[in-house]
Amino acid sequence: MAITFLFKLRVCGCFVSSFVAAMEFARIIFSGFLVSLALSVGAAKVKDLPPCNFKAIYNFGDSNSDTGAISAAIFPRQWPNGETFFHKPAGRLCDGRLMIDFIAERLGLPFLSAYLDSIGSNFQQGANFASGGSTIVPQNKTIAESGLSPFALNVQIWQYDQFKARTTDLYKVSKYSCRNQLPRPKDFPEALYVFDIGQNDIAYGLRTVDDAQLLASMPDIISQLAIAVQLLYTQGARTFWIHNTGPIGCLPSTLLSIKNPPPGFLDNHGCVESQNDIAKEFNRQLKNRVIKLRAELPRAAITYVDIYTAKHGLISNSKQQGFVDAQKICCGYHKNGIDVGCGGILPLPNGTKIFGTACEDPSLYISWDGVHYTEAANRWIANRLINGSLSDPPIPTTHACYRTS
Ligand SMILES: *[C@@H]1O[C@H](CO)[C@@H](O)[C@H](O)[C@H]1NC(C)=O
Ligand SMILES: *[C@@H]1O[C@H](CO)[C@@H](O)[C@H](O)[C@H]1NC(C)=O
Ligand SMILES: *[C@@H]1O[C@H](CO)[C@@H](O)[C@H](O)[C@H]1NC(C)=O
Repeated sequence: MAITFLFKLRVCGCFVSSFVAAMEFARIIFSGFLVSLALSVGAAKVKDLPPCNFKAIYNFGDSNSDTGAISAAIFPRQWPNGETFFHKPAGRLCDGRLMIDFIAERLGLPFLSAYLDSIGSNFQQGANFASGGSTIVPQNKTIAESGLSPFALNVQIWQYDQFKARTTDLYKVSKYSCRNQLPRPKDFPEALYVFDIGQNDIAYGLRTVDDAQLLASMPDIISQLAIAVQLLYTQGARTFWIHNTGPIGCLPSTLLSIKNPPPGFLDNHGCVESQNDIAKEFNRQLKNRVIKLRAELPRAAITYVDIYTAKHGLISNSKQQGFVDAQKICCGYHKNGIDVGCGGILPLPNGTKIFGTACEDPSLYISWDGVHYTEAANRWIANRLINGSLSDPPIPTTHACYRTS
């Protein structure tokens, strides 16, 4: 019966005249997952449709969205990380919540456990494969050599593949009571797949090659991100939410090491212009690739999310938005040529110690530790991204499952 109706829907235009009614019917057939119908709607109409019923979030990325991977697998994040919201270190490089936490909250889903965290994790409504220091392109360097994570994007996709295969397997054999920490196999296609990765490819490139070489490697970096999306699609993933990369040239940690910049090196917000130009070129190529992916993956809804503009907008209007100067770092010690990272301790030869402590009120700062944003900044950014005003197509996260025409 359902199949017949579907067939009619495709061949007979009159059935689609009342669009919302047709979508509602489709919703019943596909238990809320409308994109699988391969119907598409105009972006403006999407907001009138019921919100997507996302059952889970699977996230891929770097420290901007790591909720505990590096902390569990390699070294624990120290106090004062987590002080504002979790009141203890919570695997995040932030005083509180990250963008991905605000997305989860908005969708009514719990915060994501890191896939690599074997203690106290619950994966029923998703898993987080992001890890601090991850790149899109595997660099084959140890974390001690390069600061880069061994869990590059390709490894994160392998981890997802295992996660899906093993939970599906376990779900079949385990008793009902064992299932409450596992996702249901049928929820995988109905999840939101989020990406926020690329910043470390750019940062590592800036440290190791010249700008021309970095730009020459860009198409390969973008192509490897596209391959990750394609692999997930072949596994049944349908809704993708892809953040572009932020204004890396505005990170206060970079600016700390620049003494007496030549004229024109910094823009009028104090950011390294050439570095931001590279981030913008990454974003231009990513956006073009996303447009191609939509054509290649006819049943996918892929949203390109302009986090660059949100972050840059905040940095360039910090005072008007109620924050201190964007270059100020809340956590860590940076004076007289001495740098102690957030939570770090530096013993001096005369026996005193310098602590990388936090500022009194992190809610006034944009930068938490020189690289990562504070919870207050993340909330400000999330408020602009989640409603779709900086996305292509311009639809809110709650409606990201609809493929627009
Ligand atoms: C890392 O190793 C893989 C597998 O051998 C290789 O395909 C890749 O090109 C290497 N990456 C770099 C940046 O050398
Ligand atoms: C130790 O050295 C630091 C830096 O030179 C100085 O600020 C501090 O007062 C010294 N402490 C003692 C106990 O001498
Ligand atoms: C999204 O939220 C931001 C910040 O609250 C607001 O300025 C903007 O107008 C909103 N856009 C839409 C399309 O709702």
